[in-house]
Amino acid sequence: MIKILTVSSANMDFVMDTPTVPEGGETIICHGSYKYVPGGKGANSAVAVARLGGKSVFCASVGRDANGDALLELYNNEKIDTRFIYRSNDCPTGLAAIMVEPSGQNRIIVYPGANAKITKEAIDAAVAERPDALFMQLETSVETVIYAANAASEAGIPIVIDAGPADPQFPLEKLPEIEIFSPNESETEIFTGVKPCDKASCEKAIEILSKRVKAKHYCIKLGDKGCYVDGVIVPPIKTKAVDTTAAGDTFTAALTLEYLKDGDIIRAAKFACAAASIVVSRAGASSSIPYRPEVEALISKQ
Ligand code: ATP
Ligand code: RIB
Repeated sequence: MIKILTVSSANMDFVMDTPTVPEGGETIICHGSYKYVPGGKGANSAVAVARLGGKSVFCASVGRDANGDALLELYNNEKIDTRFIYRSNDCPTGLAAIMVEPSGQNRIIVYPGANAKITKEAIDAAVAERPDALFMQLETSVETVIYAANAASEAGIPIVIDAGPADPQFPLEKLPEIEIFSPNESETEIFTGVKPCDKASCEKAIEILSKRVKAKHYCIKLGDKGCYVDGVIVPPIKTKAVDTTAAGDTFTAALTLEYLKDGDIIRAAKFACAAASIVVSRAGASSSIPYRPEVEALISKQ
């Protein structure tokens, strides 16, 4: 079984369905529902790895509070290895406030809280167990990302980075060589100044990106246009968008898992598009992530 170590964020998501988003100074009424759903970019990916048939090891940090308890309960139910999750006594569990519009588009603000407390000792111990890949996003501290990447690189472990959320100040140049680097449209624009929308603009963006971070494969997630990787636009599997939250996290986790099996990045991207399409068709973060048989059934229907 392929083992993926995710070193990244864990949040409780407070999700509100909203008819529209308020302007500055405006108050609007939500006539829809609100709920609390386990989320966080790293946790969503760790859950995706487990549900898609990989061995998922999660190195993260949550507070010693009710949200931290609820997140750990989910990870244990999903059979995720939680030995490297630190519990902070002085920081609350990360919280994301999410507004979802009728189009399925979301707007997210994250309070990082305990996500800043991932320890070097936990990273070292998790890397020492030699996972098949290290998977990270940029939702933890810069120091955590750079430290874990260098630890994995020194141990010869392939590194996959999902570039969300993109901070223009993030020092991409400090990363060692990466196996797969995967930004979405807005992250690509933030890091390169190029808005990717077709093959030519993706190629232009990757030319700029490759001067900042060396990767074997660059895979740009293009929302409802699918993705671009290695000279190919892989189309999405069409669906009615309900809530796109966790689509990118699931996409990159699925891409990594499938790529590690045989090194075929295009096949992996097709699988990832199918998994993400299911996420988009459902509400919430972890609640929307499919199990492997659902993805295989969707692919065989195409
Ligand atoms: P997130 O909402 O989790 O932050 P993201 O912005 O990182 O997602 P996107 O590019 O929006 O990532 O989506 C990831 C993948 O999900 C796309 O590459 C595509 O395969 C799939 N996807 C996104 N939107 C749709 C859609 N409307 N219909 C079908 N598939 C979609
Ligand atoms: O990518 C979606 C995730 O971003 C949400 O679950 C939220 O917690 C934020 O981290």
